[in-house]
Amino acid sequence: MTNIVVVGAQWGDEGKGRIVDLLAEKVDIVARYQGGNNAGHTIVVDGETVVLHHIPSGILREKRLSVIGNGVVIDPKVLLGEIDKLRSSGYRVDEENLKISDRSHIIMPYHKEIDIGREERMGANKIGTTGRGIGPVYEDKAARRGIKLSDLIDPETFSARLQTVLEERNLYLTRVLEREPLHFETVYEEYIDYGEQLRGFVSDTSKLLNDFIADGKSILFEGAQGALLDVDFGTYPYVTSSSAGSGGACTGTGVSPTKIDRILGVAKAYSTRVGEGPFPSEIHGDLGTKLRDQGGEFGSTTGRPRRCGWFDAVALRYSARINGISELAITKLDVLSGLDTIKICVGYNYEGKVITEFPSSAQVLQNCKPVYQEIDGWKENLSNVKTILDLPPSARALLNMIEETTGVPIWIVSLGPSREKVLYTRDFSL
Ligand code: IMP
Repeated sequence: MTNIVVVGAQWGDEGKGRIVDLLAEKVDIVARYQGGNNAGHTIVVDGETVVLHHIPSGILREKRLSVIGNGVVIDPKVLLGEIDKLRSSGYRVDEENLKISDRSHIIMPYHKEIDIGREERMGANKIGTTGRGIGPVYEDKAARRGIKLSDLIDPETFSARLQTVLEERNLYLTRVLEREPLHFETVYEEYIDYGEQLRGFVSDTSKLLNDFIADGKSILFEGAQGALLDVDFGTYPYVTSSSAGSGGACTGTGVSPTKIDRILGVAKAYSTRVGEGPFPSEIHGDLGTKLRDQGGEFGSTTGRPRRCGWFDAVALRYSARINGISELAITKLDVLSGLDTIKICVGYNYEGKVITEFPSSAQVLQNCKPVYQEIDGWKENLSNVKTILDLPPSARALLNMIEETTGVPIWIVSLGPSREKVLYTRDFSL
């Protein structure tokens, strides 16, 4: 029995969904622990692309239990749409193989209004959020005015809670953001129906997961976004509002840290970031555009173009430390084929001094200039490579450099979105 956390080691979009889908074959349960439908986990099965926003990527494997933990925030309309879409693509989703925490918080229409209204108001200082209401729903959770799934499925509690909260949120919407208020009846009618549709999936998932652990079952904890977007350890304030690091696996599911055995960090062979915020190894100009096009670097949730840059070993070492990463999965190595030179950022030049620790201040990071090590690129297409030893020498040199500069061993190397395009440096077992 092994319990493993799969965490994004960069700024999200590392290909976690694809890695979780692979590992799901080796575990009994896959549990999502934070974030909401700001996430878009893309998996390609038999040539068909599936994008999951709330549901764990394990749902695509038969006989696996999928759990949406208490740390996840749920947009019920989007979740129900996701369930329908999976079913119409032939995947089984029912009350037996999908369980949703009664403690998870609900993204309400005012959360989206506030998210969008605030971003508009902030203008040039905006965060560049996904506009899905994520910041405002986590804010309400911490402010103790959130609506939990257990509230939503109890009409009396939901009505009372919504009355109180909506009155206050409408004041904020109208007086501060100068937007239209929302009407209680409209919101209530729509959401009570979602609650009804979700009722059968709801359970105390912390109890469920701990009972499974006691029975010797294995759990994969699936993170969303990435550690550098974590509300505590990311490039604050340009972060999401949840604990996207490995620590979130415990607070977001109600499973103790003592039960976790391994932490797999997922990182691309280069870096990307969506939205605003510091990004020292960002590549500007034609090369950045080329990488974006070769890697298909457009948001799977919002379609926004992703900013592209070189692999940042300073950021990754930091990520490894705050998450306790025991091994790495490196994705999208194939995207780098055809480049003359490949760079790795190994330090930052800040005000004339080279630093090798990731700064806590976004202001400092913004003014850091990357210090690079370079290696020759390779021309070969990697799509038919079957073992690590068959990789071109430069590609192997890049993997070695990643291990040396981050201090973390690589376990998995992914060369494309489909299930078979993957290499292992050692046994594929947990
Ligand atoms: P929010 O999570 O919508 O509040 O967005 C906050 C920041 O996190 C923005 O820079 C988003 O672009 C970024 N972000 C949120 N979710 C994801 C994700 O799944 N992948 C990559 N970036 C994300």
